Amino acid sequence: MSQRNDQFFDKFAESYRDIHTKSIKKVSGADSFYFAEYKVKEIKKFEAGHHEKLLDFGCGDGVTELFLSNYFPSFELVGIDVSEKSIEEALKRGIPNAMFKYFDGVKIPFPDSNFDIVFIAGVLHHIKKDKHFSVVGEMYRVLKPGGRLYIFEHNPINPLTQYLVKTCEFDKDVNLITSGYCKSLLQKTNFLVTDTAFNIFFPRRSLFKCFIKLEKYLTRIPLGGQYLVRSLKTAKN
Ligand SMILES: C[S@@+](CC[C@H](N)C(=O)[O-])C[C@H]1O[C@@H](n2cnc3c(N)ncnc32)[C@H](O)[C@@H]1O
Repeated sequence: MSQRNDQFFDKFAESYRDIHTKSIKKVSGADSFYFAEYKVKEIKKFEAGHHEKLLDFGCGDGVTELFLSNYFPSFELVGIDVSEKSIEEALKRGIPNAMFKYFDGVKIPFPDSNFDIVFIAGVLHHIKKDKHFSVVGEMYRVLKPGGRLYIFEHNPINPLTQYLVKTCEFDKDVNLITSGYCKSLLQKTNFLVTDTAFNIFFPRRSLFKCFIKLEKYLTRIPLGGQYLVRSLKTAKN
C-alpha cells in the first residue's frame, strides 16, 4: 500500500463523485449516486424510520446524507470524516437534518451511547488493518445498547469489483476485506452479527437489467459486488 494519510481524500473532495462515476459507470452501468442510494435503501429494509440518531462514519462529501434525509426525514444525521475538505463539501449541501464534523481518526467526538445507528460505507478498506479493532470499538462505544451497526464494503471475491477497485484513482492500492473478516472483527468487539447480505450481482445496463429483480434471492451467495454486514450492540453487553 502506498503512503496515505488522513488527508488523502482532501484532494478528491470536490471531484469525488465525478471520478467515482467515471471509474465505475462503463462496467457497472450506474453512477456514484446510484450506489449511495442503494445502501440507504438496504437500511430501509431494517429501519422503520422513527426519530433516530444516525452516525455516518467516513461520510465523505455528504451524498449519502442527501438520500438518508430523503428516506428518513425524521432522523438526526451526523457525518464525520478525517478529510476536512470533504466535510466542507458536505456542509455546502445544506441538508436540514444533517450536521458534519471533522474527526481526528482516533476518538469519535461524541459521548458514549449517543447513537441508535452507525453507518459506514466503503471506509474500512481505507483504514490500516491494525487500526480496525479500535475503530470498531469506538463505534461500539458511541452506540446505545440495542444500537445497530451497518457496514457496507466492496466484495473482494467478485472479479468485477476487484477490477473496478484496481482501476479507480483513489482505490487502486487498497486491500479489500471479506465479509468473513468483517464478521470476526465485529464478534471480537462484542457486536452480535444479525445479517450478512450480498448485493449487486449484475451490471445496471442493457440486457443485464432484467436480472436485477432476481438479486433479492441471491443475497446469501457470496459473489455479489457489494456486501452488508449488520450487527447489534446487544443490551446485555
Ligand atoms: C471511498 S470514500 C467513501 C465516502 C462515503 N462513505 C460514501 O460512501 O460516499 C472513503 C472516505 O473515508 C474517509 N476515511 C478514511 N479514513 C478514515 C478514518 N480513519 N476515519 C473516518 N473516515 C475515514 C475518507 O476521508 C473518505 O471520505
